[in-house]
Amino acid sequence: MLELGARDDYFNIWNRIRAYAPVYDAGEGVFLVTEWELVNSALRNPTLRAGSGISAAFGQDSPVESVIRNWLMSLNGEEHRLARGLVSRVFAPRSLVELEPIIRKKARELIVPFASKSSNGSADFVGDVAAKLPSEVIRSLFAIDADEWAAHVEPLFLGESVHQQDGFAAVAGLTPYFQDKIHRSRNRKTGGIIDLLSSEDKQGDCLTEAEVIANSVLIVTAAIDTTAGLIANTLVELIENPDSSSRVQSDQTLISKAVEESLRHCPSAPSSTRRTPMDFDLGGVRIPAGSDLFFSFTAANRDPKKFNDPDCFDLDRDATAMLTFGGGAHFCLGAGLARMEARLVFEELFAAADSFALQEKIRWRVNNPVVRAPERLMVSSQLSAR
Ligand code: HEM
Repeated sequence: MLELGARDDYFNIWNRIRAYAPVYDAGEGVFLVTEWELVNSALRNPTLRAGSGISAAFGQDSPVESVIRNWLMSLNGEEHRLARGLVSRVFAPRSLVELEPIIRKKARELIVPFASKSSNGSADFVGDVAAKLPSEVIRSLFAIDADEWAAHVEPLFLGESVHQQDGFAAVAGLTPYFQDKIHRSRNRKTGGIIDLLSSEDKQGDCLTEAEVIANSVLIVTAAIDTTAGLIANTLVELIENPDSSSRVQSDQTLISKAVEESLRHCPSAPSSTRRTPMDFDLGGVRIPAGSDLFFSFTAANRDPKKFNDPDCFDLDRDATAMLTFGGGAHFCLGAGLARMEARLVFEELFAAADSFALQEKIRWRVNNPVVRAPERLMVSSQLSAR
């Protein structure tokens, strides 16, 4: 899967897998699910289990195992519903409205120097903007001091060495950091979302300390690489589709359409999994109990039964049925935040610069199966006359 992400014919391969078999037995108990209708219905099926036993791979009672076992994405049924209600307080629509001016200011602070550098030769859009902004946004949500963030968190997401590490390195690095931080902050306010995650709701329910640690690690790992990928992939789409790019630059109300179509056409979170607790029928295929279903959002989002001319990047299409944020009980809690960050980046970017061009062939990340995004994006531009 990782090697596939780096190939030039990546989308073509997923299209071929879907056309060959919408539910494909890949061996070793793994079934690839690629048709939109099947991925959508399986995501919403409460009998399928999220988590897929990934935590067990870290050995019983290891701190990383505890984090993965306790975070929202591993929970099911009533346990998940309760914990999700408590975590979702962080993402209330009102907080997004309050965040908008703060994020816009941060985006501008990153984009102005990027525009200046890229108009004088080339600059890395991933390192300077796309990965930096989500990292800064999450830092401010947690109210963590910039020096502390730079020492303990940023190195897990930014910089060349990150691409040599596997996708779980960030979880392994964040686990002791948040364990220590949350343990030390017991009975003391941090001023950030740990206070909210640790507090009781109106019914008197609250997360355990292990759940606060686990969901803090989840929020950081779920938010940075995925949103960075969305922002970078959207710029790639606009560079590769100059007509769409001109339309978006002359009518900025189209930015949200471009972000939505980029989510469909080139998803930065290309997949998810579920386990079958019992024998299960999907698309006419009998799947034995204990199998893993691997949902390809990449393939589902380009299913011609769901989207007309799906390989085409089309600003005018209604892309809202795309599955890049999942669906059903585990639908992404940060979807609104990610969309807003991407919109603000492009509003600020087009105010600062235009005529973007790639200065080298894209190298796609191959260290993390749940992210498809460029490792870096060397781009040239012209300063905007606006
Ligand atoms: C473009 C950016 C993003 C993409 C493509 C994305 C994608 C996803 C997907 C596909 C899932 C569901 C996984 C499943 O059903 O198995 C998910 C869940 C989740 N995401 Fe995101 N995500 C993004 C950004 C964010 C951000 C910014 C945050 C937080 C600040 C976030 C927090 C979460 C959380 C907490 C869950 C777990 C929800 C649950 O299990 O109930 N995500 N995300």
